[in-house]
Amino acid sequence: MGVDSSGTLQDLVDTFNEEHKGEFQVRYREMPADTGQYFDQLRTELQAAASEIDVIGGDVIWPAQFAANGWILDVSDRFPESERQRFLPAPVDSLVYEGAIYGVPWFTDAGMLYYRTDLLEQAGFSEPPGTWDEMKEMALKTAQDTGTRDGFVFQGAQYEGGTVNGLEYIWTHGGDVLSGDQVVIDSPEAVAGLETERSMISDGVASQAVSTYKEQETDPAFLGGRSVFARNWPYMYALSEDPEVSKIEPAQIGIAPLPAGESGQSFAGLGGWNMMINANSQRQEEAWEFVKWMTSEQGQRQRALAATLLPTRKSLYEDQEILEKVPVIRLGKEAIQSTKSRPVSPYYSDMSLAMAEQFNLSLKGETDPQAAVQNLQEELTKIVEQGS
Ligand code: GLC
Repeated sequence: MGVDSSGTLQDLVDTFNEEHKGEFQVRYREMPADTGQYFDQLRTELQAAASEIDVIGGDVIWPAQFAANGWILDVSDRFPESERQRFLPAPVDSLVYEGAIYGVPWFTDAGMLYYRTDLLEQAGFSEPPGTWDEMKEMALKTAQDTGTRDGFVFQGAQYEGGTVNGLEYIWTHGGDVLSGDQVVIDSPEAVAGLETERSMISDGVASQAVSTYKEQETDPAFLGGRSVFARNWPYMYALSEDPEVSKIEPAQIGIAPLPAGESGQSFAGLGGWNMMINANSQRQEEAWEFVKWMTSEQGQRQRALAATLLPTRKSLYEDQEILEKVPVIRLGKEAIQSTKSRPVSPYYSDMSLAMAEQFNLSLKGETDPQAAVQNLQEELTKIVEQGS
């Protein structure tokens, strides 16, 4: 699994090992924080079939590609329909490839709009924005009135998170990437989406630096009190509860669904992480034992309480303790209910590299949005056609 800033993963592994003394022990191998870099490293190992990894904590965008290459174990028998029903449908769907299922959902993610309730109030706003234009106006006025450096921070770097952010602009303006197997990204809606993203910098709402921001740069900007708004995943909420990390407190933070374009609707990019088993693992029974334990109510509850990682088990959304102690679940409810998946394809990783590049060039003003979607129409079509 990638870097776990919350430390809860090692705690859980320790507890598991304690409970399984004399049977077998699990070691957490830390992989890169950037999901794309993690993916590259894993792919190299899995291709060589030489990996000592048994269990993979993997991004929701990976199963189609891993399954198509035979790298992960089909767990359809171990994880039957009756059991799958206890989980949220979108994370389960992320694991289904050609009718079989390849893992168990671990935690889910949704892109959300974080805002400073105190600053908006000082600037005379009582509600979060509904559209991107409203957000820009509010961000500019609030930053100016309150002497805050930035209006908005988000993930604009050339990497997977940049792909998700770009897609959210496209989706909230009514555009999309695929319709069935057809690439449909060259549309006026997608252009409008990338224009809005670009305007964050060109209209001075965000600094030029967001074109290099990943999640790790977003956290200190928003939690350090340097931005009115931020787009991020739920985990950032937990960091605001730690005064060593955050200059602002949870009471100063509001959460809303991402704004929509004038004629679009709000969507949140679906993120999240699954537990999968290496198809070449020599310890499949033990691996399954561990996957079951980590994705159990108890395992998920601990991560939700300590790290505000959203559970994938439906029951935990009705759990009083969680609802009380993990406010981001209540505050982010609308976002969690309006998620949209990135394209599902065995070639997704190539598609994403192309999108990350064009979205970043467009954000920096080096390619205009119209040309960016035309380039993508061509590149993505080539990639998708490899498979037919
Ligand atoms: C989060 C999401 C993951 C996404 C990544 C992008 O970790 O859960 O799905 O790919 O962010 O940076």
